[in-house]
Amino acid sequence: MERIIGRKRITLDEVDSTNEYAKRIAGDVPEGTVVVAKKQTAGRGRKGRSWASPEGGLWMSVILKPPRVDPRLVFVGALAVIDTLADFGIESGIKWPNDVWAGGRKISGILTEGKAGEYSILGIGLNVNNTIPEELRENAVSMVQFTGRELPLDAVLERLLFHLGGWYRVFLERPDLLMVKVRERAFILGKVVTVTEGDEEISGIALDILDDGSLLLSIDGQLRRILYGDVSLRFF
Ligand code: ATP
Ligand code: BTN
Repeated sequence: MERIIGRKRITLDEVDSTNEYAKRIAGDVPEGTVVVAKKQTAGRGRKGRSWASPEGGLWMSVILKPPRVDPRLVFVGALAVIDTLADFGIESGIKWPNDVWAGGRKISGILTEGKAGEYSILGIGLNVNNTIPEELRENAVSMVQFTGRELPLDAVLERLLFHLGGWYRVFLERPDLLMVKVRERAFILGKVVTVTEGDEEISGIALDILDDGSLLLSIDGQLRRILYGDVSLRFF
C-alpha cells in the first residue's frame, strides 16, 4: 500500500486551529492531506482546553478516511511522535490517553476528531523550538530543551509524516499489533493513577491497555475498564 499521509500538504502562516481548518476542507480533499500552520491563534486540546501554539512548534492535522471512526487512531499519532523524537535522540513514552511525555513533562498532545462515514482528523501538536509559556513550564517541554540547538522544523515534519504513514498502515491492517506497541510505550503501566471522568475521580493501579484502547485499572483488587474519552489522568 502506498503511503498516503502527506501526499497533499497545505501550509499556512497562521490559522485558528489546524483541526478546525481540516474539518472545514475534509470533504474536498483526498485522504492523507496534511494541514500545517506556523502558528495557531486558537489551538485546542480536549474539552476546549487551549493549546499554546506559538511559532517554532509543529502544529498539524491529517485528514483521514478510515472505514470507521476508531478511538485507537490517537495511538497512531502518539507512536509516530515517539519514533520521531527517537530519530532526534529523545526518549519518550505515552501518557494514556493522548499525550507524549519526555523527561517527565508533556512534549506533545494528540487531538482526534471524527464524523462517522465522513472523516477522521488526527491533530498533533509537538513542541519543537517554541518557548513554553511560563505557566506551563513545570509540566511542558520542547525538543530544543533536549537537543540544546534549534531543529529544522521541515526535517521534523518529514520524519513525523514518514512514521505516521507506517503506523497508520499498522492501524488499518493489524490494530492488535498497534496495541502491542502502545503497551510497550505506555509508561504509566504498573503505576498508581487517578483518572477524572466528569465529576468522578477514580484511583487505582494501571494494569494494562486493552486491545480496544481502554485502560484496565485495579481498584482495591477490583478490575475496572476506563474507556478512552474525555478522561484526564494523573500519576504518582
Ligand atoms: P493534563 O494531562 O495536563 O491534565 P489533559 O491531557 O487532560 O491535560 P488536554 O486537554 O488533553 O488535557 O491538553 C490540554 C492541556 O495541555 C492544557 O490544559 C495545558 O495544561 C497543556 N498544554 C497547553 N499547551 C501546551 C503545549 N504547547 N505543550 C504542552 N502542554 C500544553
Ligand atoms: C491535548 O493534549 O489535549 C491535545 C493537544 C492537541 C494540539 C494539536 S496542535 C494541532 C491540532 N490543532 C489543534 O487545535 N489541536 C491539535
